Amino acid sequence: MAAQLRVYVPPHPLIKHWLTVARDAATPSVLFRSAMTELGRWLTYEAAREWLPTQDIVVQTPLDNCPGTVVSPEIPVAVVPILRAGLGLLEGAQTILPLASIYHLGLVRNEETLDASCYLNKLPEKFHPQTRVLITDPMLATGGSMMMAMSELTRRGVDPALIRIVCVVAAPPALKKLSEVYPDLIIYTATIDETVNNQGFIVPGLGDAGDRIFGT
Ligand code: PRP
Repeated sequence: MAAQLRVYVPPHPLIKHWLTVARDAATPSVLFRSAMTELGRWLTYEAAREWLPTQDIVVQTPLDNCPGTVVSPEIPVAVVPILRAGLGLLEGAQTILPLASIYHLGLVRNEETLDASCYLNKLPEKFHPQTRVLITDPMLATGGSMMMAMSELTRRGVDPALIRIVCVVAAPPALKKLSEVYPDLIIYTATIDETVNNQGFIVPGLGDAGDRIFGT
């Protein structure tokens, strides 16, 4: 059977809580940042299932030998935050993936055309083919930014099936675009919203995540 893009919306009370705090227009920047950190933490926790590489070992307990499982120290794990707004999810993601390498990617949309362009690229020239990559960006609107991030990663040797996207609000145009090119991709999001308006904002959404995180 052909692969199909999978989008998980984990039914967790803490994810619902922090999403609702983030959506509220009355939430001040300081609390909005907490909401992003918590969503980054719990969505990364969910995304780590069947993704984070492990290895079986034997440990010596005070009483006997015992089989166990640890996170593999050999397979690289990377987090790619899409600046600026993806930085909001990074701190929470790092609490789950403390040993991951962080590669920043700065993308910005043209406010009129909504086309994404890259102003900072700290990705290595080549990734180990087994590298697990977690991309953080709270908003998937038209999908232009994430398509650009995916293309930068895959041309550097990352297998799309080993990528997890952690976002907060995903909209149908982005999911459609990604599913057409990357059917193996898996996305973890707090919600899927209805639509994207003419200005490129997700509705009902949570406004401009970057501006709300940084108070600009
Ligand atoms: C926003 C958002 C995403 C992108 C989503 O970033 O954080 O990166 O737009 O839109 P798309 O799916 O239509 O490409 P923005 O360009 O506003 O930059 P910022 O994060 O610096 O605010």
